[in-house]
Amino acid sequence: MLYLDTANLEQIKKASQVGIIQGVTTNPTILLKENVQRETIVKEILKLTDGTVFVQTEGETVQELVADAEEILSTFKDPRIALKIPAHLEGIEAMKQIKTQKAEAVILATAIYSTEQNVLAALAGADFVAPYINRMQNNRIDAYKVIKETRKIYDDQQLKTKILAASFKNTGQIIETLCAGSHTVTIPFDLFQNMADKDLAIGAIKQFNGDASTLKANGNSHV
Ligand code: E4P
Repeated sequence: MLYLDTANLEQIKKASQVGIIQGVTTNPTILLKENVQRETIVKEILKLTDGTVFVQTEGETVQELVADAEEILSTFKDPRIALKIPAHLEGIEAMKQIKTQKAEAVILATAIYSTEQNVLAALAGADFVAPYINRMQNNRIDAYKVIKETRKIYDDQQLKTKILAASFKNTGQIIETLCAGSHTVTIPFDLFQNMADKDLAIGAIKQFNGDASTLKANGNSHV
């Protein structure tokens, strides 16, 4: 139910060690943040996770997107590699073409700001769709309504596409998104850490450890 949205190797290593992450999502902006070339970093990420690694196709036209998808699949030759393809009309057509030629290719439709895109991506055979929660909210789009509508349509129509929501800036958005019906989410490392390391919890744990030390220091004098 949880993917990590980063290309930072330290963060991927740390999160993978916890053992509950299903994989890693990347996009060109995330790669630029680390200032790393796609091929080099994805090879490193594959060494750090057992899960799926989503790599975004680059290009403007259907032909460019399909060609880049083929390039990604042939470069890494790893069944854990999945394709991220933008869900505009060219991207939808590219998804359909790729799925027709290579049914086993795993596709995540990305850059999603609407239920409508989710419907078309599912019809093109996308395995996942990535609605952008924070970015929708920044644009006064009701992100949770998009999740609810999408889940209802997918369930009613028995479409197998899963919602893998993205673009989070706080942990509340993650929980609301899951409650609205998202199957899964991809989140940055700081939010992964914040999901566990709540200030109140850290304070309580500190007190428990302090009390445990005091008890040990007291010995068995009261038994
Ligand atoms: C992931 O797949 C998306 O590309 C990403 O979550 C977008 O996040 P942002 O809105 O923080 O850039």
